[in-house]
Amino acid sequence: MNLPPFDIFPLISGSKIRLRKIIASDIHDLLEISYYDAKQAKNLEQATEIQAKIDKDYDDGNSIHWGIEELSTNKIVGTCGYYRGLDKGEGELGCVLLPQFRGQGFMTNAMLLAIDFGLKNMELKRIWAITSIQNIQAIKLLERLNFIKLSDLPDDEIEYELKIEIKP
Ligand SMILES: CC(C)(COP(=O)(O)OP(=O)(O)OC[C@H]1O[C@@H](n2cnc3c(N)ncnc32)[C@H](O)[C@@H]1OP(=O)(O)O)[C@@H](O)C(=O)NCCC(=O)NCCS
Repeated sequence: MNLPPFDIFPLISGSKIRLRKIIASDIHDLLEISYYDAKQAKNLEQATEIQAKIDKDYDDGNSIHWGIEELSTNKIVGTCGYYRGLDKGEGELGCVLLPQFRGQGFMTNAMLLAIDFGLKNMELKRIWAITSIQNIQAIKLLERLNFIKLSDLPDDEIEYELKIEIKP
């Protein structure tokens, strides 16, 4: 198992996006999607505090949170990462796009990069995600990525698990 914190924060490049560390100058752009424990930041100060907690979670080996950067503009369009389960060699994927960048395929590409890194580099045994039954776009995203429904959870939530194909 190869888990956070890494010697160098993982930079994962695709053809249109890359997953990279979030830096202080990104925080303003990410304000609208700055959450911690389901609480949203109301201003730059709170978003900066949230980023400090996220950085500590990474340093403590509990999570990894990437900014998704569009290569053609160098703008951050959203975030994704593994937020729980790493202590058991598993990873709960989470993700969010800034509203203006939804419906263009950014998250499908970002999740494919994060999943590939999780399986090959972090050697995760299981990858899962939790969403609500009302979150149609998240469900479509997960099913497009080969996640299958595992169970219904309280409060209208559903757990999805990545179907990992074991090659002979
Ligand atoms: C969940 C969430 C990330 C999904 O965003 P999304 O924009 O639907 O996902 P993608 O970036 O992968 O884009 C896929 C959509 O773009 C469309 N699309 C347009 N151009 C595309 C292209 N060039 N390539 C791929 N897809 C493209 C796809 O058809 C698809 O639309 P559809 O689902 O209506 O068929 C977004 O709704 C969000 O941030 N929600 C709030 C946070 C959240 O719920 N997180 C989930 C936690 S599990």
